Amino acid sequence: MLSKKLVKALNVQIGSEFSASNHYLAIAAYFAKQSLDDWADFFYTQSEEERMHGLKILRFLIDNDAEVSLPAIKEASLDFKDNLAAVNSALESERNVSKQFDNMATIASKEGDYRGLQFLQWFINEQVEEEATMGKLVDLVASGINMFQAQQFLVHPEAATAGENPAQ
Ligand SMILES: [Fe+2]
Ligand SMILES: [Fe+2]
Repeated sequence: MLSKKLVKALNVQIGSEFSASNHYLAIAAYFAKQSLDDWADFFYTQSEEERMHGLKILRFLIDNDAEVSLPAIKEASLDFKDNLAAVNSALESERNVSKQFDNMATIASKEGDYRGLQFLQWFINEQVEEEATMGKLVDLVASGINMFQAQQFLVHPEAATAGENPAQ
C-alpha cells in the first residue's frame, strides 16, 4: 500500500502535469498566432507529453488501489512579453516540476514507500531531459536568431534518440 502522504502529493501532481500541459498549449497558440508553426508544433507535442505524465500518475494510483481526486487545472495565459519570455516560462515550469518530484522522493524515502520511490525515479530522470530541452530553447531564442530560421533547430529529444537527428 502506498503512503497516504505520497498519494496526496501524487494527486496534486496530476493537477501540476495537466496545468503544465495547458501552459504549453498556451505557448503553442502564442507561436501559432505568429505563424511560427514549427514552434507551435513543438509545444503542442510537449503539451501532449505533460498530459501523458498526468495519466501515468493516475494509472499508478489506480493500479495501487489508492485514492484519486483530480485537482483543478490552472488557467494558462497567452500574454507573454515576447518569445524569450514564452520559452523562459517553460524552463521555469520544468524547474518547478523537478522540485516537486524531489520533494515527493523525500516523502517516499521518509515513509519507507519503496514502490513509490521506484515510480518517482522515472520522472526524476525525465526531468533532466525536460530541463535540458527547455534550456536549449532559451539559449536559441536568446541568441537573437530569426524565429523562422530557428525552426530548423527544433528537434524533440525523443526524435533525436530515435535516430532522426544523428547530430545529437
Ligand atoms: Fe511532466
Ligand atoms: Fe515537462
